[in-house]
Amino acid sequence: MEQTFIMIKPDGVQRGLVGEIISRFEKKGFILKGLRMVGVERSFAEKHYEDLSSKPFFTGLVEYIISGPVVAMVWEGKGVVATGRKIIGATNPAASEPGTIRGDFAVEIGRNVIHGSDAVESAKKEIALWFPDGVVDWQSSLH
Ligand code: CMP
Repeated sequence: MEQTFIMIKPDGVQRGLVGEIISRFEKKGFILKGLRMVGVERSFAEKHYEDLSSKPFFTGLVEYIISGPVVAMVWEGKGVVATGRKIIGATNPAASEPGTIRGDFAVEIGRNVIHGSDAVESAKKEIALWFPDGVVDWQSSLH
C-alpha cells in the first residue's frame, strides 16, 4: 500500500496545529503508520532538502526546520501521496485554496506549516531517512 512522508514544521508545532493536522489525515481515511517528534540537526535537515541545496532560500529553509521540534509522520492509503498534497495545499500559502492546511493556516512560503512528499519515489526516500527502523505494522479494517 502506498505511503507518504508528512512533516509538521516548527511553526506548525509551536502554533498548536499538530492535532488539527493529524485529524484531517485521519478523517480522510488514511492510516497513521509512524510518528516521531524530533529536533533535527542541521546536517539532517540539509540531507532532507538536498535537492534544493542550490536554491537561494536553502540556508533560510534549513534554519527554519532546525528552529524547533518537528513532527515526522508516515501515512498510508490509496493515492496518499497525491491526495496528501491536496490536503496540504500549494507550496506558497498565498496560492493555497481555503480548506487546505496551508490555505487555512499559513500566509508565508517560508513558514508554510507542513511538508509532504511530492512523489511516490521521494516518499520512499524520505521515509527511509526519517524512519530507518521502519514503521508500525498494523492494518485497519478501513483499508
Ligand atoms: P516543502 O513542501 O517542505 O518543500 C520545500 C520547501 O522549501 C517548501 O515547502 C518551502 O518551505 C520552501 N520554499 C520553497 N520555495 C521557497 C521560497 N521561494 N522561499 C522560501 N522558502 C521556500
